[in-house]
Amino acid sequence: MSVALDSSLPALREGAAQAMQKAYAPYSRFRVGAALLTEGGAIVTGCNVENASYPAGICAERAALGSAVAAGHRRFVAVMIVSEAAEPTPPCGMCRQALVEFGSSLQVVSRTTGGSEARWSLAELLPRPFTPSSLQSR
Ligand code: THU
Repeated sequence: MSVALDSSLPALREGAAQAMQKAYAPYSRFRVGAALLTEGGAIVTGCNVENASYPAGICAERAALGSAVAAGHRRFVAVMIVSEAAEPTPPCGMCRQALVEFGSSLQVVSRTTGGSEARWSLAELLPRPFTPSSLQSR
């Protein structure tokens, strides 16, 4: 039995909002924070980290995922995203692919600093994904 998303939402919102404050986004000036909720109830955060060589930058969601995996987590319930956009933004395609590696039942919640919130399942955002099982017929 994994942790309930609803009871973790306030802590996820806070974690993602605090991570957004740490974002390094001098080029886009689009700061993003992400907070992953693990099945065990831990919260691991990340922010976008841009680079003078633009493609070397990393999104908040993948930064959070890297930190979580490095801390030993591989089973996730949800990711909370916070940005200063006018509307809640879904994760980019590369982040959807990175997240689906660990399961498509992930809940994706996105929030603006103004308080608007949207929620999708990763399966809805990335139908017909390429997953570890896609490699099994090699
Ligand atoms: N970005 C994220 O961190 N997450 C998203 O879901 C979308 C985009 C970052 C990448 C870049 O640093 C900035 O936002 C503008 O694209």
